Amino acid sequence: MMSCLRSRSMIVAVALASSAWSGPALAQGSTGEPAKPLYERLGGLKGITLVVDDFIDRLVKNSTLNRNPEIDAGRKRSPAPYLKFHVSTMVCEVTGGPCKYIGKDMKSSHAHMNITEKEWDVMVGEFKKSLAKFRVSAKEHQELLEIVGKTKTDIVAPAGAKG
Ligand code: HEM
Repeated sequence: MMSCLRSRSMIVAVALASSAWSGPALAQGSTGEPAKPLYERLGGLKGITLVVDDFIDRLVKNSTLNRNPEIDAGRKRSPAPYLKFHVSTMVCEVTGGPCKYIGKDMKSSHAHMNITEKEWDVMVGEFKKSLAKFRVSAKEHQELLEIVGKTKTDIVAPAGAKG
């Protein structure tokens, strides 16, 4: 079942079914109608969970991040499906969807890992790869990066916190 869900044909099918994944369909209406919430432009939970699933899989196996022993320990404490659930509901909520994020705040979930600027940049690089893989259009790509960027001051440890 999982291999079926992950199969390329499934991803392509969802990508095609959701207008959020094809460039021209994402353009704002030229008739002056209000822009759809980002949540809808991303294809709702189907689109968001596909990207988050791919993104968390990349983070979990990233060797630069796992060299930080506290991140590695956090991975063992908080399994990938749990993180995917929380990150998906968070993205759903902050993009205007119907979800309610019920996880911890970003400071208390990350402070103990002393995440560095470099590790943050690695995470952003992986996020961009997931957005590119699902062909999230430039406007939505940018909006998502801005949303993630707002969490940075709560997630990255103050300079010099390490060692
Ligand atoms: C370099 C960047 C990041 C790293 C290395 C990282 C790593 C982790 C790890 C290892 C955990 C589990 C911690 C534990 O159980 O002790 C965690 C929790 C979590 N992270 Fe991150 N994270 C990063 C950035 C982000 C960002 C940008 C978001 C969302 C915008 C996010 C959302 C979450 C959420 C929702 C949880 C779970 C909170 C809970 O347990 O209630 N993380 N993160």
